[in-house]
Amino acid sequence: MPWIKSKTALVVLILSAILGLYAWLSAVKSPVIFGLREDIKQAIAYQPVPKGVDSLSAETCGTCHRAIYEEWKTSIHSQTFTDPFFQAYWRKDKHIWVCLNCHTPLQNQQPTVVSGLRGDRVDRPLTEPNLHFDEALQQEGVTCAVCHVRDGVIHGPFDDAVAPHPTVYDPKFRSTAICYTCHAVPAAKLQFYNGGPCATFLEFEAGPYKAKGYICQTCHMPEVERPIAEGGPIRKGRSHLWRGGHDPEQIKRALTVALAADQATLAAGKRATWTLTLTNSGAGHMLPTGDPDRYLQAEFEVVDAAGRVLSSRSMTVKRWILWWPVIYEYDDTRIPPFQSRDVTFSYPVPRRDEGLTLRVRVSYHIVTEGAYQRLQKKYGLTVEVPHVFTLYEEQVPLREGTVQRQAAARPTSPRCAPEQAHQDGMG
Ligand code: HEC
Ligand code: HEC
Ligand code: HEC
Ligand code: HEC
Ligand code: HEC
Repeated sequence: MPWIKSKTALVVLILSAILGLYAWLSAVKSPVIFGLREDIKQAIAYQPVPKGVDSLSAETCGTCHRAIYEEWKTSIHSQTFTDPFFQAYWRKDKHIWVCLNCHTPLQNQQPTVVSGLRGDRVDRPLTEPNLHFDEALQQEGVTCAVCHVRDGVIHGPFDDAVAPHPTVYDPKFRSTAICYTCHAVPAAKLQFYNGGPCATFLEFEAGPYKAKGYICQTCHMPEVERPIAEGGPIRKGRSHLWRGGHDPEQIKRALTVALAADQATLAAGKRATWTLTLTNSGAGHMLPTGDPDRYLQAEFEVVDAAGRVLSSRSMTVKRWILWWPVIYEYDDTRIPPFQSRDVTFSYPVPRRDEGLTLRVRVSYHIVTEGAYQRLQKKYGLTVEVPHVFTLYEEQVPLREGTVQRQAAARPTSPRCAPEQAHQDGMG
């Protein structure tokens, strides 16, 4: 029958179109979730050891810059290579070379030299072995030399340093330009993000803090007055701490939580509504920012005396991204600076006291539980990495739940202030 023939033909046509599209997509699509800017296509060229110091290792710098070394050592920048999450995801991405240009960016830290790409494809690098490969330096990730050493000279924020090594004043250190290279991860073609996979820099540029005179360092490298080298004069410098999503205290600095009931006194037998308001009161960019795995979760629960959850409601604050067959960001519920997100919850207030409790919780997640388990099962994550932090928790007897409070999730430590002392170096 001609009708069947044409129907079969149609099915074959559709199938081959899907297959063709799939083949085309897999040929054109980037094997990684980001694109390549010109300046991250290559490692930072090979760096010789500056005169007056014994090696490029952070420990060597630390013999004279003790305090700074100790801070860096506790920061994520010293772990950008050894970080178990990086190692697991890197294995997932088949140890592709390009990750190293931000996670261990010096040529000295990379086992191969990439001289070009075949057909401009990230997964087809032209490589040769690196005779200068320093495996110990690789372990140090974003080490001192990554930011400070160029062509045998140590770059820094001062123009009057008297050091045993060559130094040069570089205005970049008191601007956001020094963070841009790695913290503005762009999209490749056929990847439809708003701004790229890690767009912290762009979020800051578009936000209100820049006009107020802040730079990334204002909040991530708090000011300190101390000798910058053992025995040197006291100077106004900055701590090398870089706290971010792995530090619950830092996340709390970004967030203010308010919980309010719609009635001053809850009426028994009537429905009451509570509103939880999350405000980004302290981050210079979206909350959360960076790695698209990060999210905030706000939850309401009514729990009975036996601990059973009778009713619940939650809100997830994150980027909503379709990862396959193409990367497409279809929504973004993260909180821009000084803005808020509300979640409301209603429940009938019982006439008699049944021992019900209203529980409210806000938590920060580095990755989802599902992703975490996949990293364990498939990609060799063996150590336990803290990846969920409770930022705010409130438990009240439901009948007395006349909550009307502003609870800052923020700890008591001083908040960062805009750049006044550093007006000269704003970027
Ligand atoms: C033997 C001691 C010593 C070692 C080792 C050393 N430094 Fe220094 N460094 C100094 C002294 C002293 C100063 C100047 C202090 C001053 O003027 O207040 C200085 C200054 C600096 C400055 C400020 C420069 C400027 O112009 O702003 C930077 C940045 C710096 N060092 C980085 C490093 C790095 C990175 C290493 C390791 C590769 C290193 N130092 C190794 C002693 C040392
Ligand atoms: C050479 C690349 C590079 C430069 C330059 C750089 N960073 Fe980073 N930074 C990274 C990488 C890679 C990570 C993630 C490490 C990880 O989690 O494995 C990171 C992590 C961070 C984190 C912590 C994120 C977390 O998950 O806790 C903060 C905060 C941060 N950087 C701030 C800065 C600031 C501020 C600057 C500029 C002064 C800067 N960085 C410059 C590469 C860089
Ligand atoms: C991600 C980039 C980055 C890394 C890695 C880094 N620094 Fe810095 N460093 C900076 C910035 C930015 C400043 C400027 C701070 C300011 O405005 O005073 C700075 C300033 C300094 C200064 C001058 C003193 C001061 O507080 O301004 C010294 C000395 C220094 N760094 C040494 C080190 C040493 C030693 C290491 C490794 C243990 C290191 N840095 C790692 C970015 C970096
Ligand atoms: C007004 C203070 C402020 C400024 C300015 C600021 N940040 Fe942050 N940043 C925070 C706070 C607070 C957090 C923790 C909450 C969060 O993750 O949003 C944070 C988190 C981060 C993280 C962690 C993301 C992750 O994956 O866990 C990175 C990376 C970061 N900032 C980089 C930057 C860079 C780069 C700039 C400049 C372009 C910058 N920040 C400017 C306050 C600030
Ligand atoms: C253009 C620079 C750049 C490149 C290239 C890059 N990263 Fe990153 N990566 C970062 C920065 C910056 C962060 C940290 C802060 C954030 O969350 O934005 C980060 C964070 C991460 C994290 C989160 C770590 C944690 O502890 O949560 C993982 C995992 C990671 N990168 C893996 C990779 C892999 C795998 C590749 C290669 C396929 C890669 N990165 C390539 C800049 C880069």
